[in-house]
Amino acid sequence: MTQEILIHEADGVLELCFNRPEKKNAITGAMYDALTAALADAAARPAVRAVLITGEGDIFTAGNDIKDFLAMSGGLTGTSAGQFIRAAATFGKPLVAAVNGPAIGIGTTLLLHCDLVYASPEARLSVPFVDLGLVPEAGSSVLMPARIGTARASALLMLGEPMDAEAAHAAGLVTALVPAAELREHARAKARKLAAKPPAALAATRALMRGDPGALLAQMDRESAAFAQALQGAEAREAFTAFLERRAPNFSAAAE
Ligand code: COA
Repeated sequence: MTQEILIHEADGVLELCFNRPEKKNAITGAMYDALTAALADAAARPAVRAVLITGEGDIFTAGNDIKDFLAMSGGLTGTSAGQFIRAAATFGKPLVAAVNGPAIGIGTTLLLHCDLVYASPEARLSVPFVDLGLVPEAGSSVLMPARIGTARASALLMLGEPMDAEAAHAAGLVTALVPAAELREHARAKARKLAAKPPAALAATRALMRGDPGALLAQMDRESAAFAQALQGAEAREAFTAFLERRAPNFSAAAE
């Protein structure tokens, strides 16, 4: 099991922590697999009543590992990332997030599947898929506009403009802002509070609030198909290579 996802369990709460600070907690296939296995384990064991997700260091996560993106050829469905996204989207128990810094790409789209999101003032949500020549994932193409309105969702998903913690709180993406030093303990306390509730009533409430999972999974399949096409394209290749070469991307050739 990779040490890049730390797993800790106490008081009915399973805690999952991104732990690859030297790479800004960018998520690799092995890390997705560890997260998916942990969610499956949490779903299967009645002793786990809630899951808390957070990041080690000064960042929640820099999103999917861009080197891994370069090696991918198809859509997300069936990949380690796709399996994790599905596991999170269909998870039956409460999900709580403690966002301790920037949350990029899946770091932000994952939050749309969480029930309670606590963030420090240093948190910044961003989904720069278009800038990477990609399209949104994790159902965010419908969940984000539904949650915060098309106007704000377009600034995030099309302009690629980050949203700071205060704006994310005002927009309804964040439950509460908590000083960094108190963030994890605060989120833990809320997760423990959920863990002490009657689990069937809580799970049913959560399912009712989230609506039809079939529609969401169908949208995720459409996103995956568009993602596969984008991934093959010159725009994405140029964006990934430019990031890894630490230079600005040049899309003039990609458009031809
Ligand atoms: N995938 C792979 N490696 C990543 C990464 C990612 N998503 N994000 C950061 N890293 C790596 C960097 O390549 C660098 O590695 P190196 O030290 O071996 O060169 C290391 O993490 C530190 O990143 P660096 O860019 O030097 O740190 P920073 O503080 O200047 O910037 C970020 C931090 C998160 C703003 C910046 O790394 C970034 O924009 N990352 C990409 C985010 C992204 O687009 N994710 C995909 C979303 S779909």
